[in-house]
Amino acid sequence: VNHLLGIKNLTREDIELIFETATNFKEVINRPMKKVPSLRDITIANLFFENSTRTKLSFELAEKRLSADIINFSSASSSVKKGETLIDTVNNILSMKVDMVVMRHPNPGAHYFLSQHIDASIINAGDGTHEHPTQALLDAFSMREKLGDLQGKKVVIVGDIMHSRVALSNILCLQKLGAEVMVCGPTTLIPKYIESLGVKVEHNLKKALIWCDVANILRIQLERQDIAYFPSLREYTMMYGVTMEILNSLKKEIIIMHPGPINRGVEISSEVADSKQSIILQQVENGVAIRMAVLYLLAGKIERNS
Ligand code: CP
Repeated sequence: VNHLLGIKNLTREDIELIFETATNFKEVINRPMKKVPSLRDITIANLFFENSTRTKLSFELAEKRLSADIINFSSASSSVKKGETLIDTVNNILSMKVDMVVMRHPNPGAHYFLSQHIDASIINAGDGTHEHPTQALLDAFSMREKLGDLQGKKVVIVGDIMHSRVALSNILCLQKLGAEVMVCGPTTLIPKYIESLGVKVEHNLKKALIWCDVANILRIQLERQDIAYFPSLREYTMMYGVTMEILNSLKKEIIIMHPGPINRGVEISSEVADSKQSIILQQVENGVAIRMAVLYLLAGKIERNS
């Protein structure tokens, strides 16, 4: 059975194939007839053990565009609340003849664990602070639309690197495509291991923005922090909030990205989020085509239920 557990397991060729397939699907979903029959007879369960807006709706739409049958599960309204385990929950769902599982889970490695115990294709829609592979793919795809080949391009990821699954998946994906990656933020939000990945570290926002072609801005993940937070949100905004004032001082135009959800006025000002430099909504648009590509390519490798 084939899975997408993380970017770690993909080659550059795999990523290029996903992009090529997504480019074709992007053409399809811009046509008046947006649906193709590619996943007819495939049943997909969307299992969300953690909140989501973009990823959940984007996968659901991608599956519908491919004509798959889908069922949606949200842990908040499920029997998980009565003590059912992850494996029992998923095996019960699979016994209804489900072929693929799209899952978001708060525990890093939950997808890998599940892949050892179940007989269905698994796509990681985010596992705690670990990986969010389809976000990284849609981010790199969006950058490539703007900049062409990413070889030698410079990307800075600004913000809460410590608690971000988007950061790790982006770093791995961008490096596989030949880009240079820097992270920028306070020392308290940058993990010590990051330099061992070949990533540059910069604590001064302006220096980081002068260096880069693209700034991917992350929110502070307060929900994942169980210690007294430093710096405070107010201090963070003063030191790392991306504003028009700082962008205008760069004397060059960089591309602004954010995976969402945005905290306007904290890590990014409203003016920047809505500026012509921002491709935040193009990222969301591309998310559907990228997820169609991932579903299509994985479904091609699984045996269909008749
Ligand atoms: N980018 C992202 O994963 O957003 P959601 O949490 O809304 O899915």
